[in-house]
Formats: sequence, C-alpha cells, structure tokens
Amino acid sequence: MWESDADLLARVDKSKLPRHVAIIMDGNGRWANGRGLLRNAGHTAGVKTLKKILQTAVNLKLEALTVYAFSTENWKRPHTEVEFLMHLFSDYLEREKREMHENNVRIKFLGRTEDFSPALQKLMRDSAELMKNNTGVKFNVAADYGGQDEIVRVARKLARQAAAGELSPEDISAQIFADELDTAGQPPVDLLIRTSGEMRLSNFLLWQTAYAEFWFTDTPWPEFTPEQFVDALIDFGNRSRRFGALN
Ligand code: FPP
Repeated sequence: MWESDADLLARVDKSKLPRHVAIIMDGNGRWANGRGLLRNAGHTAGVKTLKKILQTAVNLKLEALTVYAFSTENWKRPHTEVEFLMHLFSDYLEREKREMHENNVRIKFLGRTEDFSPALQKLMRDSAELMKNNTGVKFNVAADYGGQDEIVRVARKLARQAAAGELSPEDISAQIFADELDTAGQPPVDLLIRTSGEMRLSNFLLWQTAYAEFWFTDTPWPEFTPEQFVDALIDFGNRSRRFGALN
C-alpha cells in the first residue's frame, strides 16, 4: 500500500461505510473528445481509473462494488466502439484476474452473457470460477446489463415456476424476487456514484437502488480519483437514511 493510500484510508470512519457501492463510470467519450483524442482512448483511460478504485475498495474492505461496464443499450453504439469495448473488457480480465484473486476479490458478472463471443464468455466463466471462494470485496461487473431486463428475467423465471405448480403467486415476495436477481445474496446498493455531470440511473440496478443514496460529480470517469471516491464515502456517512420511516 502506498503511504498516500494509508492517509486516505485514515480519513474514513469504517463504521459509517456503505456496504454496497455502485458506480456509473460515465464520461469517457467526452473526456477523450475534449482532448482531441478518439472516444476509445477515453475507455482505455477509464480502465486505469477502475483499477485504482477497485484497489481502494480492497484497501477499505468494502463489502460490494458494482460497476456498469456495458449496458443492454450500448449495443446501439457504432460497431467499432462496441468491438473496442469487448476487446478492452477481455484484455482487462486477462490482465487483472490474477491480481484480483491475490487481493481476495470475488468477481461476478451481472447481466446477459449469450451475445458475447464464446471466448469472452469462457474468460468470464473462468474468472468467476477462479475467485468464487474468495471472501473479500464482491466485485460485480455489469456487462450486457439492464435493470429492466434483469427484472423481466426474474419475472419469467417465477412465472414459469408458478405455471408448473411449483410456486403459488401469493407466495412471491420482495425477498423471493431479490433472491433471483443477478445480485442474489448481496446487500442492496447503499451508495450510487455517477461521474461526468449526468444525473440519471440509465437502467442500472433498478431494484437494488430502491433506497440508495446518490452522489454525483462533474468529473469525467478517466479523471475520477481515489480521493473523490473517499469523499463520496464520507459524504454517505453523513447522510440521514430513514428508509421511509421517521427519525
Ligand atoms: C461511459 O462513458 C462508459 C461506458 C459506456 C463504458 C464503461 C467502460 C469502461 C470504464 C471501460 C471498460 C470496462 C471494463 C470493465 C473493462 P461514455 O462512453 O458513455 O462517455 P460519454 O458519455 O462521454 O460519451
């Protein structure tokens, strides 16, 4: 750990940390364009930021970190950008999986996988398998993920069970539903961070953010720092969360 990291961690009151932080890593393209670079250069820079933020989460012993890497709507981007993101994703997993494993990170993928190339699907499966018994940060990478798509998948599964007589519709509860989500067994999102000045949820973790606190910054994702990440966590610790009740 760098000394500056130790200083950073010392700023945090561990008892007030969120259990689950989700991040919409937005602004890669605009950051690159603003520098006269191609959008893909922004995504490459974004991966470097992700590495630093995951390391900070590991140092802080966060319980869960979820990042939005590729949405179900991102297929609508130009083919060359989609191809580049796929390449970056597989390159990232190939390069980082060993270090993640050494850091006791447990990676999991949220979303659909069937439209990814067989090689990428295998890499995702192998990475998850390698880390499945790890007990550190639960690192969820949302890839070909959409919150509505996830909810529809669960609804279909439960409807099939009901039609087969295995489940009574009256028995379907919020808990039974949550147990079928891609995040089953993980705490709901406490804090949602979005970079680059946009203030939308963009079909991310619709169910899991029901009571999340939101934290926005104008900083584009490639320039987002561990210091800002810690600022967001400290800010979260000062929020009054009532979950619909009174204080
Ligand atoms: C949003 O920026 C970012 C994405 C759609 C992809 C996020 C991907 C990364 C940070 C790198 C790849 C991730 C992994 C896990 C390897 P944008 O392109 O929407 O930026 P803009 O709003 O400025 O156009």
